[in-house]
Amino acid sequence: MILTDFQVFEPANASPKPAVVAFRLDGRAAPRQAAPLTPRRTTMTDEYLNRRTFAIISHPDAGKTTLTEKLLLMSGAIRLAGEVKARGDRRRARSDWLAIEQKRGISVTSSAMTFEHEGCVFNLLDTPGHEDFSEDTYRTLTAVDSAIMVIDAAKGIETQTRKLFEVCRLRDIPIITFINKIDREGRDPFDLIDEIADQLALDVCPKVWPLGAGGQFQGCYDLDHDRLLLEDGADSGHFGKVVELSGPDDARLDEILGDAAEQARETMALAREGYAPFDLKAFAHGALTPIYFGSALKEFSVAEVLRDIAQYSPPPRGQKAGEVEVLPADPSVSGFVFKVQANMDPNHRDRIAFVRLCSGVFKRGMKLTVTRTGKTLAVNNPIFFMAQDRQRAEEAVAGDIIGIPNHGALGVGDTLSEKSGLRYSGLPDFAPEIIRRVRLNDPMKSKQMKRAMTALAEEGASQVFTPALGADFYVGVVGTLQLDVIEARMLAEYGVAAALEPCGYEAVRWLAGDAAKVSAFVAGNQGSIAHDRYGSPVYLARSQWDAGYAAEKNPDIKFLKTRERV
Ligand code: G4P
Repeated sequence: MILTDFQVFEPANASPKPAVVAFRLDGRAAPRQAAPLTPRRTTMTDEYLNRRTFAIISHPDAGKTTLTEKLLLMSGAIRLAGEVKARGDRRRARSDWLAIEQKRGISVTSSAMTFEHEGCVFNLLDTPGHEDFSEDTYRTLTAVDSAIMVIDAAKGIETQTRKLFEVCRLRDIPIITFINKIDREGRDPFDLIDEIADQLALDVCPKVWPLGAGGQFQGCYDLDHDRLLLEDGADSGHFGKVVELSGPDDARLDEILGDAAEQARETMALAREGYAPFDLKAFAHGALTPIYFGSALKEFSVAEVLRDIAQYSPPPRGQKAGEVEVLPADPSVSGFVFKVQANMDPNHRDRIAFVRLCSGVFKRGMKLTVTRTGKTLAVNNPIFFMAQDRQRAEEAVAGDIIGIPNHGALGVGDTLSEKSGLRYSGLPDFAPEIIRRVRLNDPMKSKQMKRAMTALAEEGASQVFTPALGADFYVGVVGTLQLDVIEARMLAEYGVAAALEPCGYEAVRWLAGDAAKVSAFVAGNQGSIAHDRYGSPVYLARSQWDAGYAAEKNPDIKFLKTRERV
């Protein structure tokens, strides 16, 4: 992994001491005026330095949606609590396949949201929380520079948190940890941070400490700035007041916390001294995580997290393209597609490629080359995804996410650039472990079925294979839930009723190596050969064992479980 060194970013209008915002976020009582989003208007090549492109990773129910909403409220990007959810509900109401999401209480789509705060532009990428969508999530995480890991204070690290964390670790992504729901009865704070340190092998550095929990919860203490974060009124339960102290020994701590002050001092001293001091380099390399105890629902520590993403999380870093590393300051525009989403708006049958820009200053109307096809694309209608709306993107810089509407010209993993031949690495296809034959209820619909399957594969959620023999069509996925989504979407969006049924294969391997030997193997094993949508040959195996056996018997050929997009 290559990281460019960076300096702590000071927003242009930052006060000498980082501002802590004390206001209610729930929109019920005099919230902060929603700040209008300043239109993007830069030609400066170092504008990327104020971009923070990040994701929130968590196990379902830990509070990712609530935290997202509070971050958007704080930035003024939305005005009322409940809008993120409401937006989700509207989306769900419009689309059948999203009904699956609703029914199972999960989020199966990823999306991007851009908002500004204190002179910093945040690009928040949503990651699906369900394990079946790990491949999609994996790709989304290749497009971020940092992540917030949300942990439920009552539960600690859960399975999906750990999986997502492992993906972040592969790229050494810096992680800010938000331990949520401290307004409820939870586990001991030291237990929780020790668990993070031990299980994730990370150095930990508490930044905001909880004062009591559940019924005894009194607020939080910002350890770096000696500020008490308190409820805005007796029994309101909501954050709303900041009291600046000279330090934990300040007598006002006793006035405010009463008998609990002494114990708070003791635990805070342990929290400060018992763990690693904050080290920006270690954080930037993913070796240390700052920890914020808070409550997304009650808005405790949300401002501190937002402040510190701006302050500490790195701006866009260099991205690897084969042997070269493309720096964000490189004047030549480039980016890669990490997601394709079709029918976001069923009224328009649109298909949008989400592109993470990696270098240069992009301008609307620019012509970029798609490396895979060699074709040039005039990007006339690029989109920014704001919290609630889409906005035409006139200019964008490294770290920004732009949506490019297209009719199949762009697939997941594609590189777009002004320079020809550039190809970003790190967006692999994973060999699916669930392979199904597509059985049509109406055989006359086979053309539509192929169109639907190819379009779905281009989104990256599934893969399609055509066997060398016969007229079948196979679909490969990583998790079973995707099968339901595919069936539902084929019907809803393409009018094709189809069943996905077992076909006897359980493993797929891409074939690579000496071309003549691969061709000979393909010719001699036609019954077990299929081609992916790029025409590359794959070996279909009846079991994992069978795949291993074939590889052992043919040492000159590589049987690959992952393949970088060509
Ligand atoms: P997710 O996106 O990670 O799946 O979690 P989400 O934000 O939807 O939160 C899951 C549940 O946890 C929600 O309750 C939410 O209100 C609650 N929650 C989130 N943050 C906090 C917090 O800081 N404190 C407390 N006490 N609860 C929190 P729900 O009952 O499932 O949904 P809802 O009806 O409240 O929306």
